[in-house]
Amino acid sequence: MTLHRSLPDFPWDSLADHAATAREHPGGVVDLSVGTPVDPVPDVIQRALSSVSAEPGYPTTHGTPELREAVVGSMARRYGVTGLDPAAVLPTIGSKELVAWLPTLLGVGPGDVVAIPALAYPTYEVGARIAGADVVRLADGETPPSGAKLVWLNSPSNPTGRVLDAPALADAVAAAREVGAVVASDECYLALHWSAEPVSVLDERVSGGSPSGLLAVHSLSKSSSLAGYRAGFVTGDAGLVSGLLETRKHAGMIVPRPVQAAVTAALDDDAHVADQRERYGKRRELLHAALTSAGFRVDHSEAGLYLWATRGEGAWDTIAWLADRGVLAAPGTFYGPGGSEHVRVALTASDERVATAVERLAE
Ligand SMILES: Cc1ncc(COP(=O)(O)O)c(C=O)c1O
Repeated sequence: MTLHRSLPDFPWDSLADHAATAREHPGGVVDLSVGTPVDPVPDVIQRALSSVSAEPGYPTTHGTPELREAVVGSMARRYGVTGLDPAAVLPTIGSKELVAWLPTLLGVGPGDVVAIPALAYPTYEVGARIAGADVVRLADGETPPSGAKLVWLNSPSNPTGRVLDAPALADAVAAAREVGAVVASDECYLALHWSAEPVSVLDERVSGGSPSGLLAVHSLSKSSSLAGYRAGFVTGDAGLVSGLLETRKHAGMIVPRPVQAAVTAALDDDAHVADQRERYGKRRELLHAALTSAGFRVDHSEAGLYLWATRGEGAWDTIAWLADRGVLAAPGTFYGPGGSEHVRVALTASDERVATAVERLAE
């Protein structure tokens, strides 16, 4: 019973005092700390969920053929990734569980290295630690060390919103292949872009036309407001995906049947993704302008659901300044030592709460 001791402290607990301060604001808290969707699940997806809710049998771990075809179709339509093999698609119970368990499922273990971005979603490190592997943080363009078995990429990035263009991603892929590491590309923000056009690791300008050693990890939480359904998928190298499938069958890591139907409907419909992107885009404009007017500098943030902002002071000082105004953000230190002077401001609040934040930042 010691595994949990090798894991980092759950970072959100350390925000509790500032959250309490922000909640005391007479107009209530504007919570821009966690990127949780607030807009209702689109009707087309809700209908699909309930359409199979009477089915009593076990669902398939591999996902229905319709779901896998929907992934192939949406990757081609939305991101220009063609030629995907439906057999090389595997639904996941949201993407966080895959991120946390991928090193273990791939057989990465003690003595192996997992490389993650210098500023990164904390679960990449958690997954490596669960597997007992070592973690190295790589600056942009830095090559993974020999002994690296898995390299995480994340463009658009959480927390910085930075987009790596196709040549930069191709270089990262080539460097990982050179040391024989699998590349897992976390693409959960691919549909949400503002001033740069992100590409998938499976784009042939990045993959060189072969998915060998590559896994694209996708989530429907943000693009389709499905965080509550727990809906994602992984695709890419057919051999790797079939290995994951075998282990996940044994382990009962199965996406519930109604969620499989919901995912299929969500991937077959691009209109709701465009609507959601527009909603976030408007909120982003407002928050970006308000932060800039209040003396913040916003770095990167070309895509994704966050503004990576700084006042040129320690992150916790900025968190306290915002909390006094009833606004809660996440300190950049949650994502790596390089985030010590930044805060991450999420775009995932209602129009009313965003307008309230804008007013408070102008005071
Ligand atoms: C970079 C990144 N990857 C993965 C996830 C997990 O998302 P989910 O488990 O909802 O698919 C998140 C959630 O915020 C994220 O920011």
